[in-house]
Amino acid sequence: MSKTFTLDGKTIPFTEGQTIIQAAQAADVYIPHLCYHPEFKPHGSCKLCTVKVNGRQTASCTMQAAEGMTVESDIEELNAERRALTQMLFVEGNHFCPSCEKSGDCQLQATAYQLGMMTTHYDHFFPNRPLDATHQEFLLDFNRCILCSLCVRASRDVDGKNVFALAGRGIKTHLMVNARSGKLADTDFTNDDKAAHVCPVGVILPKRCGFKVPIGQRTFDRQPISAYVDTRLPAKDH
Ligand code: FES
Repeated sequence: MSKTFTLDGKTIPFTEGQTIIQAAQAADVYIPHLCYHPEFKPHGSCKLCTVKVNGRQTASCTMQAAEGMTVESDIEELNAERRALTQMLFVEGNHFCPSCEKSGDCQLQATAYQLGMMTTHYDHFFPNRPLDATHQEFLLDFNRCILCSLCVRASRDVDGKNVFALAGRGIKTHLMVNARSGKLADTDFTNDDKAAHVCPVGVILPKRCGFKVPIGQRTFDRQPISAYVDTRLPAKDH
């Protein structure tokens, strides 16, 4: 007999070693998340996936499921905190959805809609971040980085290239390109890299195809992010 826990009153089966979010997704239950990706080790940084386990908050992407635990996720207390975290991500970078070619395919935008975020609430930082258009095939727009580290993990763990890294500390943490010049053109980054297709927002953008799929017909225009559960649609789909 498989082991189970309850998630918002629903019985969720799990296998030994599965995290709460893995078991929830296998049972088709959506838990908001940004830095979690089913193909990578959890990073546990965005905290969007925070749930309450037996009354205590913990990240569901790092917490292993255990027999009989009572997990709460879709409750207003947690959704309000997720909304606040999402608002902070919006003001910390420069996220201007109406002019972003990733609009409709962006998981930050889709998560904000999912959580009913109506305004950014906090004062915008308006950081001065560079673009990198040096690469033949890809544009980097650091303004939209949410520090999920998916490109870092993909390039290091799958591509074996270490093209990207997170540098700095605290508020100064930022994404950088591992090249003496700091430019993507001076790396061996290619369209075949896993890292080229994992960015959940609009930082790593393939050139010359930004509006191949019109606004209104994109991933999250068709269905809310909760309907995809664990599906990560690659950037090349738009
Ligand atoms: Fe769990 Fe980001 S998805 S901390």
